[in-house]
Amino acid sequence: MALLEWSDKLSVNVDEIDAQHKKLIELINRLNDAWKNDFKREDVRSVFMELIDYTKYHFSSEEKYMEENGYPDLEAHKKQHEKFVKKLQNLQSKCSYNSKEVYTDLLSFLSNWIVVHIMHSDQEYVPYLSGAK
Ligand SMILES: [Fe+2]
Ligand SMILES: [Fe+2]
Repeated sequence: MALLEWSDKLSVNVDEIDAQHKKLIELINRLNDAWKNDFKREDVRSVFMELIDYTKYHFSSEEKYMEENGYPDLEAHKKQHEKFVKKLQNLQSKCSYNSKEVYTDLLSFLSNWIVVHIMHSDQEYVPYLSGAK
């Protein structure tokens, strides 16, 4: 069973952003699978790298939408994104990629952060982006 599932409750009513959120969920699920299966260090490392890159890409598209639509809390939202990217990079540099315990904590942190962020912070820009597609 997947660690995270997409649900319509997560939708921000912008197709491009929904597709990006789905991809982030898929990457976290892949990281979980790589970790659970035979824990091949290289697989885990490469999925983690892909997740960091894709997260940065998603945050910049989302910030572009918010900026273009005059979202008033853009700066505070950007700070949340920055903090999360720093945390990911920090985790990446600290991970030995040998320890399963590290991944238990990492995956619970990632899955909670992403769902809480989409359901709360991202939902707050929805009324401002309602004209976007
Ligand atoms: Fe987002
Ligand atoms: Fe966001």
